Amino acid sequence: MENVISSAVMTDHETLIEQEQAAIERIRAARRVLGDQVVILGHHYQRDEVIQFADFQGDSYQLSREGAKVAAKYIVFAGVHFMAESAVILGRDDQTVILPNMQAGCSMADMANLEQVLSAWVELEDVLGDNPANIITPITYMNSTADLKAFVGENGGTVCTSSNARGALEWAFAQREKVFFFPDQHLGRNTGKRMGLPLEQMVLWNPFKPYGGLTDGQIRGARIILWQGHCSVHQQFRPEHVDLWRRHHPDVHILVHPECAMEVVDKADYIGSTAYIIKMVENALPGSKWAVGTEIHLVNRLKNAHPDKMVESLSPFSCLCSTMYRISPIDLANVLENLAAGRVVNPITVPPDIRRNAKLALDRMLAIPK
Ligand code: 13P
Ligand code: SF4
Repeated sequence: MENVISSAVMTDHETLIEQEQAAIERIRAARRVLGDQVVILGHHYQRDEVIQFADFQGDSYQLSREGAKVAAKYIVFAGVHFMAESAVILGRDDQTVILPNMQAGCSMADMANLEQVLSAWVELEDVLGDNPANIITPITYMNSTADLKAFVGENGGTVCTSSNARGALEWAFAQREKVFFFPDQHLGRNTGKRMGLPLEQMVLWNPFKPYGGLTDGQIRGARIILWQGHCSVHQQFRPEHVDLWRRHHPDVHILVHPECAMEVVDKADYIGSTAYIIKMVENALPGSKWAVGTEIHLVNRLKNAHPDKMVESLSPFSCLCSTMYRISPIDLANVLENLAAGRVVNPITVPPDIRRNAKLALDRMLAIPK
């Protein structure tokens, strides 16, 4: 019985590999038909079989900037849902943004929704005794839904990414005394700490508790109110992993993404976005050693591209973004072939009022110096 099951699994696996190999040719053929009507944007965490087709590869910030400049009628986004939404918001009315697999979401973005944020806003007003928009600048991490970006836009706030969070916080504090930062507590805390804010002035808002589980005094004394959200990939890196690397390789450089927990970031040598991580490894000396705390596809790509350096994942376990991974070459082939046949599948849309306010927030972000 066991043999029957394992050979069925093997056959399915082999079929999938064959289909993925065939998809590579299908993608090439469809692109020949489509020519410059389509541009493919890809995030660094995408698998090699997909990212090889990206006309532009970048981190969330670079992709939003590049997305806004695309001339093509169709943008196929090899990333996750919030990235495709941002491309719609920043794009032209006559452009269409396509996500090859609609299941490619982000578990962190799902940790904050508009209803929860609106009810937090009402509770903050209750405690502060004033319209929160007079006291608090809301900042949403790029990894959030379009309606949260719109909320932020409407309330005088901005979007940030992992590569400009400090600039966004500085901008926000120049507007008002407090910041409401969602959904990634770690990016907010790590950035605030590096700006010299004491931990007791960065309080954690639990959306499942009345008043975020905070006392009036904690809310009044806070400079940053951090949403209790996190990245399920980056939270897998632990401070013990850093200790282990340092014990076995005292000359290792620890390079991590700011979505990692503060306990990891505090022990690291270098902290930055995916684009920063790539630049650090590219510019490193031959023979240098790097333990990298970010998604495994990017770490493996860096390892393969730099055989003269030692590049490994900080974690002994594979930290995979399973939602990014949902975009397969087969999905890419399907949407491109349909497009070549005149059919648009998986278009991403954002209602006009949300788009307008979310664009305000994204435009503010793009205007903040990095
Ligand atoms: P960046 O590419 O902006 O560093 O973001 C990492 C990430 O988690 C994207 O979802
Ligand atoms: Fe979301 Fe984390 Fe995946 Fe980025 S790596 S898409 S934040 S789950």
